[in-house]
Amino acid sequence: MYIGSDYYPEHWPRERWREDARLMQAAGLNLVRMAEFAWDRMEPEEGSFDFSWLDEAIQILAEHGIKTVLGTPTATPPAWLMHKHPEIYLVNREGRRASFGSRRHYCPTIEVYHSYTRKIVRKLAEHYASNENVIGYQVDNEFGGSRTRGRCYCNSCHRAFQQWLEAKYRTLSRLNESWGTAFWSQTYSAWEQIPLPWPNEAPANPSLELDYYRFISDAWIKYQNLQVEILRNVSPGKFVTHNLMGLFPSIDYRKLGEPLDFVAWDNYPRFSQHLDPAAVAMAHDLTRSLKNRPFWVMEQQSGPAGQNVMGTAPSPGELRLWTLQSIAHGADSIVYFRWRTCRWGAEQYWHGILPHDGKPGHRYAEIKRAAQDMAKLKHLMCSAYPAQVAVMRSYDVLWAFEAQPTSADLDYDQELKSYYRALHSLNVNIDVITPEAEYDKYKVIVAPSLYLTNDDIVQRLEKFVAAGGTLLLSFRSGVKDWENVVHEETLPAHLAGLVGASIADYTSTGRFESPNAPAQLAEVEFVHPELTSYRGTASVWCDILNLESAEALARYHGNFFNGTPAITLNKHGNGSVIYVGTSLNDVAIRELSKWILRTQGLQAPLGTPTGVEIIERRYNEKPVLFVLNHNSERATVSIPTAARDILTDQRYNDELLLDPFDVAVLELV
Ligand code: GLA
Ligand code: ZN
Repeated sequence: MYIGSDYYPEHWPRERWREDARLMQAAGLNLVRMAEFAWDRMEPEEGSFDFSWLDEAIQILAEHGIKTVLGTPTATPPAWLMHKHPEIYLVNREGRRASFGSRRHYCPTIEVYHSYTRKIVRKLAEHYASNENVIGYQVDNEFGGSRTRGRCYCNSCHRAFQQWLEAKYRTLSRLNESWGTAFWSQTYSAWEQIPLPWPNEAPANPSLELDYYRFISDAWIKYQNLQVEILRNVSPGKFVTHNLMGLFPSIDYRKLGEPLDFVAWDNYPRFSQHLDPAAVAMAHDLTRSLKNRPFWVMEQQSGPAGQNVMGTAPSPGELRLWTLQSIAHGADSIVYFRWRTCRWGAEQYWHGILPHDGKPGHRYAEIKRAAQDMAKLKHLMCSAYPAQVAVMRSYDVLWAFEAQPTSADLDYDQELKSYYRALHSLNVNIDVITPEAEYDKYKVIVAPSLYLTNDDIVQRLEKFVAAGGTLLLSFRSGVKDWENVVHEETLPAHLAGLVGASIADYTSTGRFESPNAPAQLAEVEFVHPELTSYRGTASVWCDILNLESAEALARYHGNFFNGTPAITLNKHGNGSVIYVGTSLNDVAIRELSKWILRTQGLQAPLGTPTGVEIIERRYNEKPVLFVLNHNSERATVSIPTAARDILTDQRYNDELLLDPFDVAVLELV
């Protein structure tokens, strides 16, 4: 367990370093991450390396009991390098080349950049291989985290894409067939003829576009792995990780995480997650589920955030709350971004633990308290995370929808979030998995809009349901094959056996035709006796369903398909499949989710008022409950059995009163 901060000694005079280390130690911090943007300091001129400043900082920190994680500095190649090799700059979709003076401006496939990368990473790894105060490495920084999301359209990427396709399809006839290039006379007779999906006079082939998104994701992973390999060979015995960005869409994090010891992510609840505790929870759950093991928060918000425009200041208590929320969801180390707010550069308003003046204030005091709390929870860091419910999110589906949203209102991640939010509000633990994960340990898998399918996924879902699982699918599931081509069979094609209903027709919202068209297509009325009677809304898309072996759980009200099934239930083996033909409003999703959990006998350990989150961990086979009050008001939670709060040692018999943004970690006694 580490608790630390992202530290930039290169931004402050040497005389200050000792004071920083002293203050860190006094706050209970035991780790820093450093140097991820400091290439210009490590190699001021080509071939002349200088790590002396970093050695000194590491040493001073070590004298105060603080270990170091070093970032490889490749997110910010220095001016001398970019001036010498402008071909390294990333080229965006419109053909504009990036330029110097910011960060993440390089292309992932340029060979000359790979060779400079190898050199600096090797030097760094050699220099620190035997330094025991350096415990691990972070490769680069937030791959894809820039305006283009790392999608490069340069000549090198173009050639690399063609080679990637050749390795995938082997023959052009297979590629032509898989993509359906007979459409618009696009048959290729040489690999060199294949374009990138540039903006063009009319849309590109969606199969080509999906493959490009897969290729560019692979290109970043390959670039990461080039560094991982050097770090492992030259500096063995230290961990290697990367800092991810939660639901970030353009890199397949499951594949990116594979060669890493553990994954980390950067958590800014008041910035990128828009202050939505469920969105933060979902990003944590996605990150943990990638490797199904504890992860790190490598950057945890520690003050008001923003680059040129700044957001709201965290309320007193929130920094601690976010820390404990991260731990609850499976993080075992927290690193705050950043130690001291910088006086210059693009992030002068991205506040750290210390303000610009370097004097410890209320944020410092709060982090000190969070560090004390973390120490009390040390034993829980590797405890089990019991989740019997999974929400499925596929990168391939995400990219296929990016190429063709099909409805102007369809947002795959929003759809997933609606289901996640409902389940999360019902206080059950959730994993956020990709289709490649194991399904056996779950009782419920919610896989909204599973647009693409392949035989492997279909077979494993069938097995899961046959064994007694509940699967929820929704509109636009099973539409296409893995190469983004519509299936020949009646929809939902290969999922038809599971769903027990066929799709006779469908409609999308009309905002594509007219911006004033209504967002709502119909109402949805629950008709099944086991469901609470409720009338909700159908928007984005409506499938018009014919029942086969399935029965109706809800019917449409209104529009030309008035009275037809909107939600169906099909028994399959020992389990059941629910198909939701439309995008439901939140209350409808919540009611449906309640019923699903009930039918699977899944009970939340506690009921809570809105804005109070419960996460269950298991330590020595016994439940430990994190109770997190995200409200700015006090909250009362009734508890079924006597409990002890590990943080305060207070005992409760029937009721727990939590202050605004306060947290209790209950051991049931
Ligand atoms: C990201 C980066 C950091 C910093 C923070 C704040 O997450 O990794 O370097 O830029 O955001 O903007
Ligand atoms: Zn490129």
